[in-house]
Amino acid sequence: MKLENRIALVTGAASGIGRASALALATEGATVIVSDVNTKGGEETTRQLTDTGHEAIFIPCDVSRAVQVESLIRRIVSSYGRLDCAVNNAGVSGDLTPTDLREEAAWDMLMNVNLKGVWLSMKYELAPMLEQSRGSIVNVASAAGLVGFRYGSAYSASKHGVVGLTRSAALEYARKNIRVNAVCPGFTETAMVSEMNVANPKMVEATINAIPMRRLGAPAEIAQAILWLCSDDSSFVTGHAMAVDGGTVVA
Ligand SMILES: NC(=O)c1ccc[n+]([C@@H]2O[C@H](COP(=O)([O-])OP(=O)(O)OC[C@H]3O[C@@H](n4cnc5c(N)ncnc54)[C@H](O)[C@@H]3O)[C@@H](O)[C@H]2O)c1
Repeated sequence: MKLENRIALVTGAASGIGRASALALATEGATVIVSDVNTKGGEETTRQLTDTGHEAIFIPCDVSRAVQVESLIRRIVSSYGRLDCAVNNAGVSGDLTPTDLREEAAWDMLMNVNLKGVWLSMKYELAPMLEQSRGSIVNVASAAGLVGFRYGSAYSASKHGVVGLTRSAALEYARKNIRVNAVCPGFTETAMVSEMNVANPKMVEATINAIPMRRLGAPAEIAQAILWLCSDDSSFVTGHAMAVDGGTVVA
């Protein structure tokens, strides 16, 4: 198994891509720390893993709050002695709003979770990884982190920020044996897209028509890319922002 004896953290693991990633990492032998602000969903993910014979625990955490992220990593290190892989996946989609009409509070909330949350997660994850001279971080950005997203400018800006953080940190830690990569999913069938569909079904339909493969991604398909970047199979890959998007960004 590719992640035997590895300790892996997945944030935002209560549903969608995070839950699928937790399952993919556990299936390859990792002990998975499932984390989320949503306790019910996080416990359900953990139950799904442990019921199928995998090692997993749930630790709640709001990634936009430094004290909570610091405490999450402290608990992982005190329980397991190290942290090998971190999937910084927690995120929110925010409203679809023209740039000139966006409210400041909505901007701040989205940036605090999607961008500051990834930076805070990396800040505290890097300490044990530096100590053990080894680690793999995978940040979940978006295809909207590589190209523009009409009416989703705050979301797109936050995800471009995640790609910038990923590339910069990859340079900083390349000689310390810590790899930092990003996965950039296209539209994927999760709660995030269902909510968008309820709010604006025409837009989701138009988006699917613009995807070269003419379908949404499945969470498990995104999770396979995350698994590859976590594992030693990608040992010479760092600073990469990998689109997993049915061809969207090259169309
Ligand atoms: N679904 C898509 O089409 C799509 C496309 C590109 C990128 N993404 C990204 O994938 C990631 C996962 O999204 P998803 O589609 O699985 O949606 P999702 O809503 O199913 O999962 C997001 C998870 O993040 C958690 N979360 C939100 N705020 C948090 C916080 N402050 N602290 C900790 N956890 C928090 C939520 O509770 C939820 O469990 C996000 O970063 C999202 O931006 C999704």
